[in-house]
Order: sequence, then C-alpha cells, then structure tokens
Amino acid sequence: MRKLVLLSLVIVTAAAVWFWRSANDEMAPPTEAGQIALGRQLYAENCASCHGANLEGQPGWKMPGPNGRLPAPPHDESGHTWHHADEQLFAITKLGTAAVVGNGYESDMPGFGSSLTDDEIRAVLLYIKGTWPEREAAYQQGISRR
Ligand code: HEC
Repeated sequence: MRKLVLLSLVIVTAAAVWFWRSANDEMAPPTEAGQIALGRQLYAENCASCHGANLEGQPGWKMPGPNGRLPAPPHDESGHTWHHADEQLFAITKLGTAAVVGNGYESDMPGFGSSLTDDEIRAVLLYIKGTWPEREAAYQQGISRR
C-alpha cells in the first residue's frame, strides 16, 4: 500500500513538472526586455559604426560634410530621432533616408530591409526608444499615436 502511494506521488509530481514546463514553453512570447536586449546587440552590430556606440552621432552632425550629405545624427535626446513617429523611424531604417525623402535626395543612411527582418528593426528601435528620458519618450509616443 505504501509503495502504491509513493508511486502515485511520483507520477503526480512528474505530471505536474511536465505540465508546468510545456505551459511555460507555449506561453513564452518575446518579452519587452528580451526585445530590447536583442535590439541593443543589433544596434552595436549595424548602427553604432555611424550613430556611435552610445548613440552620440557623428561629430558636427548638424552640418553637411564635404560630400554635401548630412552626417549621422545622435539617437539620444540631443538628436531628433525622437521627433519622428514610429512609422517614420521604421520606414527610414528599412528603406533608407533617400528612399523615404525621395526627390533625388542623397543620404548616407542605408536601408536595412535586406539585412534585418521587420522584427529586428522593431527591436533596434525599441532599444533606442528605451534610452530616451521621460519627456522625449512621451512626446514621441504622442506623435506616434496620431
Ligand atoms: C553608414 C552609416 C550609417 C549606418 C550604418 C546607420 N545609419 Fe542611420 N543615419 C545615417 C545618416 C548619415 C543619417 C542622416 C541621413 C540624412 O538625414 O540624410 C541617418 C539617419 C538615421 C535616422 C533618422 C534620424 C533623424 O533624426 O532624422 C534613423 C532613424 C536612423 N538613421 C536609424 C539607423 C538605424 C536603426 C541603424 C542601424 C540598424 C542605422 N541608422 C545605421 C548613417 C547611418
């Protein structure tokens, strides 16, 4: 009798563990923290060379360089990335600035549509947005909602 009780206890425990595990597997959508961590890594690999390891942009970014094109602006609150709505930031990153502006505008900001997936682009932007102070973040959320 004791053996039977023990055995059923083992079975119930194993079932509970199995159930808990599979439930956790199924219910693991990408968390925001996970997205931001991925975005930080993708930023370092794809964006930091121009926009700076700390999102500080290129020196003298407000004035066009010798080639007549604008340098890479910062992505922190000193730049104007936060002046753009989500859709615009996504389009610029996916297509490049020249394609978004049109009219023969020339820009050194490449499009990443062939090297990053849409989800990866969203992760990079989520990482960038996560660095903004409350005022800039709130402003950008406001224009994105419009
Ligand atoms: C080869 C250099 C280079 C790389 C790499 C690069 N950028 Fe840029 N980026 C630029 C330049 C230059 C501009 C300014 C373009 C202009 O206004 O003509 C710019 C502008 C932008 C803007 C618009 C900012 C604003 O305030 O108007 C966004 C958003 C942006 N980049 C995102 C990214 C992201 C995200 C990555 C990485 C996935 C990236 N860039 C990688 C050079 C680069």
